[in-house]
Amino acid sequence: MSGLYIHIPFCRQKCRYCDFASFACQESLTDSYLCALDTEASFYSNQKFETLYIGGGTPSILSANQLDVLCEIITRRFAPISSFAESTVEANPESLTTEKLKLLKQLGINRLSLGLQSMNDDVLKRIGRLHDVNTFLSAYDHAREAGFENISIDLIAGLPNQDEKDFLEGLQKVLALGPQHLSVYGLQVEEGTPFYREGIQTDDDLVRRELEKTHFLLQEAGFVHYEISNFALSGYESKHNLAYWKNEEYLGLGSAAASLQKGERRSNTTDLTEYLRRMRFGLSAVEFSEKLTGKAKEGEEIMLGLRMLGGVCLSPQKKTLFSSEIDSLCRSGLVTLEGDLLKLTFEGMFLANQAFMAFVGPFDA
Ligand SMILES: C[S@@+](CC[C@H](N)C(=O)[O-])C[C@H]1O[C@@H](n2cnc3c(N)ncnc32)[C@H](O)[C@@H]1O
Ligand code: SF4
Repeated sequence: MSGLYIHIPFCRQKCRYCDFASFACQESLTDSYLCALDTEASFYSNQKFETLYIGGGTPSILSANQLDVLCEIITRRFAPISSFAESTVEANPESLTTEKLKLLKQLGINRLSLGLQSMNDDVLKRIGRLHDVNTFLSAYDHAREAGFENISIDLIAGLPNQDEKDFLEGLQKVLALGPQHLSVYGLQVEEGTPFYREGIQTDDDLVRRELEKTHFLLQEAGFVHYEISNFALSGYESKHNLAYWKNEEYLGLGSAAASLQKGERRSNTTDLTEYLRRMRFGLSAVEFSEKLTGKAKEGEEIMLGLRMLGGVCLSPQKKTLFSSEIDSLCRSGLVTLEGDLLKLTFEGMFLANQAFMAFVGPFDA
């Protein structure tokens, strides 16, 4: 499997918790950005991909005409949108018009990922979202009317000013809509965000309680909890994201986009102006690249694979290299090793970062 990721780094307004590589009030640059994407795509054209993910930032901030241009670039440089086994567009409710929905469907996009975050208007306002619950509900209905049969919804657990009861009631309402996929993230407060500056701290107990209940509620509703933050009805697991966790190749285009090709990890400059400048001159956007080898490479593969709750199959080499780390994680109850299959335990699912540390270098030679 190999995936194509396209990053759209524009947002109408920055949400107060968000640390993603996206910029507010830069919409005047969207046309130049599409030209830049076309240039970058020309460096890699004719490569073959099974999945497409247009993420951000806020891809739905692009006008219908710009979305059409973007899909034309992908078609001309790589393949028609309808030929991808899975093609996702991330969208924010306030900018997902019926015109855009119809166009995306007609162009062959077959999956939408809608950012909701909370089913409480007051919470949405406080975290800096531009939509309210009703705007989300009508975007969701319009997406269904346009014929989208594979819709994912993003929620955040542990948001300030939202207690467990309110979160779970919101989750029930979301379930009642009948989405195929849900991503539920525990709030992370990152340096540099308004949340961080305001001194908002993650309430680990609240996040844990909400995520634990989410696990059981969604399981009861027939969802497979297939990755730490991801739940799907059977057959609707995100093919594109699964490929990341299986350490398969992908190409990322756009500012801040990351790639893994021929064993090399690359990431593009996060500086939008610099990205546009480099593309104007036909220069590479890559800011960082590395080729992991030895224990670091094996460790990275385990760490990515462990995110999948079905576990990761270890080669004899991986088992030998990490035998003491795995023993210690098994003893602390964070993972199990049965035969070659290494898995997070239920406890480990909530303390995954602790488990991952064992597989991240630097390692002694
Ligand atoms: C690439 S982001 C944004 C997608 C889209 N722009 C939106 O806001 O709906 C994907 C998801 O990451 C989650 N996310 C972003 N920042 C987060 C944070 N600090 N803590 C937890 N989840 C976060 C949100 O659920 C968000 O929808
Ligand atoms: S959460 Fe989405 S809309 Fe909000 S700033 Fe981040 S990328 Fe933009």
